[in-house]
Formats: sequence, C-alpha cells, structure tokens
Amino acid sequence: MQSAQFLAGKIALITGSGRGIGKAIAIKFAQLGADIVVNYSRNRVQAEETAEIIHSLGRKAVVLKSNIAKEEEIKLLFNKISDEFGKLDILVNNAASGFNRPLVEQKITGWDHTMNVNVRAAMLCSQYSIPLMEKAGSGYIINISSPGSTRVLPDYIAVGASKAALESLTRYMAIELAPKKIRVNAVSPGLVETDALKHFAFMTNNDVTSRTIANTPAGRLVTPEDVAETVAFLCSSSAEMICGQVIVIDGGFTLIVPK
Ligand SMILES: NC(=O)c1ccc[n+]([C@@H]2O[C@H](COP(=O)([O-])OP(=O)(O)OC[C@H]3O[C@@H](n4cnc5c(N)ncnc54)[C@H](OP(=O)(O)O)[C@@H]3O)[C@@H](O)[C@H]2O)c1
Repeated sequence: MQSAQFLAGKIALITGSGRGIGKAIAIKFAQLGADIVVNYSRNRVQAEETAEIIHSLGRKAVVLKSNIAKEEEIKLLFNKISDEFGKLDILVNNAASGFNRPLVEQKITGWDHTMNVNVRAAMLCSQYSIPLMEKAGSGYIINISSPGSTRVLPDYIAVGASKAALESLTRYMAIELAPKKIRVNAVSPGLVETDALKHFAFMTNNDVTSRTIANTPAGRLVTPEDVAETVAFLCSSSAEMICGQVIVIDGGFTLIVPK
C-alpha cells in the first residue's frame, strides 16, 4: 500500500506541463508530495498558472522555458535543474508537436521538427537525466505515446512514426537503465480533450468526440487526470517490476473491431 505522499522529497520534470496532459501530471505529482519543474516552450502564462496551483498544494514549482526541439536549450534546462535541485527523480517526456498533413504534403522541416520534439528530445532529456537520477539513487522515466504509433489516424503520419520510435526508445532505454535503478515505461492514452485536438482537421469536420465515446466500452473519454493517475502509478513501488512497457489508457476503445 502506497502512502498518500509517496513522492515526498522527489523532484519531477514534466516537459510541456503548462497545459493539457502535462499540467494534470504535474498537479498529480505535487498532490503526491513532489516538487515540480514546469517546462514550457511558448506559453509562459499557462506555465505560471500550473506553478501557482502547485504552490497552493504546498509544493515547490520552478518554471523553466526550454524549446526541447533544440539540444542547446535542453542542456541549459538540465543545468538549471542541477543548480536548483542537484538531482532529478522523475522525467516525464510529455511535450509533443507535429505537422499534421498527409504523406504527399510532408516537408523535411515539418518532419524534422516533429521527430526532434517527440523523439530526439526524449532521448536527450533521458541522457541528461541519468547523472541526476544517479545522484538521487534511482529514477523513473515515463514517455507519453499515442495510439497513432500502431494505428493509422488521419494526417498523423509524422507524429505516428515519432510515437512508434518513442515506444521503441522506451524498450531500449528500459533495458539499458534498469541496472541503474532507473525504470522506463510509456503510456498511450486514447482521445483526450486538450488544445492538441485543435490542430486536427478531422476533429472539426466530424463529430469525433461523440463517436469516440459511443465506441468506448468504458462509456466516456479519457481525461488528463486518468493519464496522470497511471503515470503516478508507474512511478510508485507498486510498479517496481513493470519495465519497458506501453500501458494503453483508452477505456477499451482500441480493442473493439468496428462493425
Ligand atoms: N490529447 C490527446 O488526445 C492525446 C492522445 C494521446 C497522446 N497524447 C500525447 O500526450 C502528450 C500531451 O498532449 P496534450 O494533448 O496535452 O498536448 P497539448 O495540449 O497540445 O500540449 C502540448 C504541450 O507540449 C509543449 N510543447 C510543444 N512543443 C514544445 C517544445 N518544442 N518544447 C517544449 N514544450 C513543447 C507545449 O508547451 P507550450 O504551451 O509552451 O506550447 C504544451 O505544454 C503528447 O505527447 C501527446 O502526443 C495526447
């Protein structure tokens, strides 16, 4: 049985935690006792709002701007974390970006940006985390994937490929880092109503939300808080032997064969 504050004394970095799923994970971790590094790239006001909620929970929150598409900014981010805390216990590779368009309209710049934010940054952030997690004595890395890693969603080719790579990265990192007591896993949520959905043309043209609910055996959409609960579980001693897995959080949606 976990204590209600089982993350007390832990430091957690959640990339892209000013809004959406990352924000919910940051708040959940703070509720469980962790101090939080809130990272953002463009939206400082929302990152500050997340930090205010964390402060109201009695936890420390440091807001750090870093465009994780750029290696030099990732390096600066980790230098600041090292200076501020001297260690890191949890890294959640949550931030994602993507050029949503069909194959024939993909451009190298869009493809590279998508891969850099969604996969290369996860690899680099994990690399930079290792010495800080070794100082902490152990660590957790959780990657946020999506069903587009294995299924075909409209205009999702670049992000889907990046998420497939992220899931593979999860397995390789899990094996390499397990002897260092760093546990690596991923979660793959179904449709969650966040700003991300505004970037999909198919979301505005169809009643995707109500059709998703109708096709979800659990009878509702996945919420950011559902994702945060699972991520927190994976960072608990109850998940000690879960290593290199991708946990699907979708209320059964992807199990159903369409009629
Ligand atoms: N929503 C869904 O239905 C769904 C389903 C499955 C998986 N997911 C995954 O869940 C994760 C979170 O998604 P979400 O829906 O919460 O997304 P969202 O609402 O669009 O938020 C994206 C977050 O990523 C940050 N970000 C984007 N580019 C960045 C960069 N270059 N450097 C640093 N931060 C950057 C944003 O920061 P700024 O605010 O500063 O721009 C923002 O905090 C993603 O990995 C996504 O693929 C989402």
